[in-house]
Amino acid sequence: MRQKIAAGNWKMNGTSAALDELTALSKAPPMAECTIVICPPAPLLYRAVEQSSGTAIKIGAQDCHTATSGAHTGDVSAPMVADTGASYVIVGHSERREAYEEQNSDVLSKAEAARDAGLIAILCLGETLEDREANNTLDIIGGQLTGSVPDGANSTNLVVAYEPIWAIGTGKVPTFAQIVEVHDFIRTELNNRFGTDTGNSISLLYGGSVKANNAAEIFTAENVDGALVGGASLKAADFLPIIEALANS
Ligand code: PGA
Repeated sequence: MRQKIAAGNWKMNGTSAALDELTALSKAPPMAECTIVICPPAPLLYRAVEQSSGTAIKIGAQDCHTATSGAHTGDVSAPMVADTGASYVIVGHSERREAYEEQNSDVLSKAEAARDAGLIAILCLGETLEDREANNTLDIIGGQLTGSVPDGANSTNLVVAYEPIWAIGTGKVPTFAQIVEVHDFIRTELNNRFGTDTGNSISLLYGGSVKANNAAEIFTAENVDGALVGGASLKAADFLPIIEALANS
């Protein structure tokens, strides 16, 4: 049985007042097999952990450095994230791959750093619209998997999130068949590399314009085990129906 995960990526949104959303989320009825992860901006991590302690909500960071410490002004290391009490970290989000020119090799090093710090990496993959239109989606996703998923990955240190870049923040969502095709492909690749016991245990999330009105259908796909949600995770009122759709899937 794979873990169902509803993960919220707040991106660069939220000051301390946003922590009230955690309180609102924590009032959700307990949902078996369904983990809620909130990834607030780094300055809120410690307080978010404190505020969600004793609830079903887990906290994650949005990025980590590849090194454990050193002369990297402005960066945050995986052990620092773990020290806040957070248990997850997003790595390889397309916004970072684009804005900071992060390559698969960088994402691999970040996922390794996360694993070594005892964190679960939510590793993001996704194609551009040009890749999609040129029928290169599976080649791109395959290359990202090979290049950025560490050896020794398993369900205790890795979650994979498929996020087509053209679907992030745009309101555009791939067809159900397109989501199924990519998620089935990722599952097969993980099974081939790590064996079926391990490959089948790793949760795969879909991300990109997930909303209350499209979540339930997306979650019917066999290899979609949850969602990585941006805009609709900022307010508990928007995120709760998505979590409920997952719990009922
Ligand atoms: P979105 O963002 O839900 O606002 O499209 C998803 C993400 O970037 O993780």
